[in-house]
Order: sequence, then structure tokens, then C-alpha cells
Amino acid sequence: MNINQNYLNLKESYLFSTIAKKVEDYKKQNPDKNVIRLGIGDVTLPLCPAVTEAMEKAVKEMGKKETFRGYGPEQGYGFLASALAAYYQKRNVSLEEHEIFISDGAKSDLGNILDIFSVDNTVLIPDPVYPVYVDTNIMAGRNILYMNATAENGFLPLPDEKMDADIIYLCSPNNPTGAVYRKEQLQKWVEYALEHKAVILFDAAYEAFIQDESLPHSIYEIEGAKKCAIEFGSFSKTAGFTGTRCGYTVVPMELESSGVALNRLWLRRQTTKFNGVPYIVQRGAEAVFTEEGHRQTRQAIAYYLENAKIIGRALNTLGIPYTGGENSPYIWMQCPDGMTSWDYFDYLLEKANVVGTPGAGFGNNGEGFFRLTSFGNREDVLEATRRMEQLGK
Ligand code: MLT
Repeated sequence: MNINQNYLNLKESYLFSTIAKKVEDYKKQNPDKNVIRLGIGDVTLPLCPAVTEAMEKAVKEMGKKETFRGYGPEQGYGFLASALAAYYQKRNVSLEEHEIFISDGAKSDLGNILDIFSVDNTVLIPDPVYPVYVDTNIMAGRNILYMNATAENGFLPLPDEKMDADIIYLCSPNNPTGAVYRKEQLQKWVEYALEHKAVILFDAAYEAFIQDESLPHSIYEIEGAKKCAIEFGSFSKTAGFTGTRCGYTVVPMELESSGVALNRLWLRRQTTKFNGVPYIVQRGAEAVFTEEGHRQTRQAIAYYLENAKIIGRALNTLGIPYTGGENSPYIWMQCPDGMTSWDYFDYLLEKANVVGTPGAGFGNNGEGFFRLTSFGNREDVLEATRRMEQLGK
């Protein structure tokens, strides 16, 4: 037996596991300290009533012989795909139900989608970036090219003709920087992908946070994108499903390589390796698109964006430059006094008992930056910013 040697090329542990372990150790040594976590982007508000009512109803159905359901379709129930298609239609994006695959979340799909691509492909990944894109490609042993996302390009790299990539990762609104691509910028990426016969893996997990109406929520708002892009969406941050688990992936029928529809391959992959998301969860997700569900989930998003404003105001007071927080739940700040990301992590944990995410954990260009999430409780956010202000710059 031989192991997959590529795993030995990974960092010792996944970024958020490393942080969780560090915080756990700190808490063990300092049990009296009230540690506030603004690190991993985990929601704190409960599921909204529209969602829990729909799930309760589904639980009752599952308890009755006449309405009980066993295995569902691996790619998700039609009722949820249809609700998602209607959601896309509001932005004039027309999708067929069979182009939408329901899953247990964007993280799994972003990793699993690589099954349908050859390991010979070269991937192009922004730096800094959500670590799942990098780690899953290291696991597969793919060649990775990085593109710089820096303050100079507004953390939104554009295609470079010198780079020859087959698979391109884009995340907008961006995790970790909070930057959002404009339509004309995404158009450049679509043109590049079509010209280079590349595929764009577009992570739209944070689209619901976009407030500026001129910004695109989906890559399919861009002409030609259905021929070159797969889109990943999630209910985690949109509707508080981090613990409930539900997401979706769109693979348009028009997307082909060497005459093979990628939709067919993904369907084959999912039907073989996945048995679908629980019926109860899918009914909860469907309720997000009812009038009440929409209103209630948007209220939660407004609450988180208000947290982001509070954090932003504190950073302004401290004179610390930052981006994000307006169309995104993440604040990407510069570490004060030229500190490295991990030094600032330790400093903030020890001196203010506040946890954030070191920018360096998202890539080399993240060094010297720090990410704060706005998904905390209001009281915690107020207390954390008060402590940071007290600590000074
Ligand atoms: C993050 O903090 O970057 C995300 O919450 C992680 C995730 O969504 O998997």
C-alpha cells in the first residue's frame, strides 16, 4: 500500500483547525479569560422562523408513513432547484433545474469538483485566498500558479496573458479580502477563459452580502459565462446554515470540453459518490426563497453588516487601514506597527482576548494583514472593538 504522497506537501493542519487548536490551548491556560472569536466565518444568529417552520413540517412528514421519504435524488429535490432557478431569474439568469446540483455545502463541492478534471491541468489561484482551493489541488498534485491580489489592484487580479491556466478560481465577494469584482472585470475573465479553453470556478458563497446594486452576484450575469464557468453557492452565510449544511453548484449545459458536457460528468460523480442532502434540510433551504424567508434572512445579513460597520469605525479611530465590510462580511485590515500576521494574532489574543484570522494563512500576500469576521454577536463585536481601541494602535 502506498499513501497519496501529495498529502505530505500540505501544511501540518488546515488553517481554521490550527487556529481553533491555538485558541483552545490559550483557554486551557487562561480559563478566566473571556475570549471573543472573530476568526472563522461562523454565523451566530439562529436559523430564521421561516426556515425552522419549514423544517418542522418536514420532520412531521418524515414521521408519517404516507409522507415519509427515503433516498432522494442525489442532485437534490426539484422543489429546491426550482426555487434557486427562480432566484437566479431575478437577475435575468435563466437556468434549468438540472443545471443546479444541491449539496451539503460549497466547501465540499469546491473540493469534489476536481474529480472531473485531469490532474494535468494547471490551476490559477489568487493569493490571498480561501485555503480550500489551494489545499485540494495540492492533495491532487496539480500544478498551481498564483496571481497577486494586492492593495495595488484592489485585491482583484485580472487576467495576465502570460499565464496559461486551465482552471481558474475566483471568489467574489472575496474571502478573505472582501473585494468584489465589477461586471467589466468579470467580463475580462470570461473572455480569457473562453480564449484559453479554461474553466472558471466561481465561488459566490457571499453574494447575498452585496449592497451595491451595480455589482454582479453571479458570473452568469456576464455574457459567455455559461460556456466557461461553474458557480458555487451556499446557504451557510446567506441563511445561517453553517451547522445545517446546504449549498449548490451550477454546471450549465453549455459548458463543454472536447465535446463532453461537464454537467454530465458532475452528475455521474455526484450520483456515484453522494447520496444527497437530507429532505428536512432541503425544505429549510427552500423556505429561504419565500417572501418571509427572504425578509428574515436579509435582516440577519443587515445585522452582520452593521457589525462590520462597527469594526470599521473602530479601525478608523485607530487609524488602521482596511478593506471589505461593505459588500462582504469580512474586514481585511493591515496589522499595526508592521507586525506579521501571526504575531498580531498572538498579540490580540493575549492582550485583548480577541481571535481573528492571520492574513498569512490565506497566502503569501496575506502576510502583514489580518481578517476579522462580522458574524459575531453584537455584544461581542462591541466588546472586541472596545478592547482593541483600548489597546491602541
Ligand atoms: C472562513 O472563515 O473563511 C469560512 O467560514 C470557512 C468556510 O466557509 O469553510
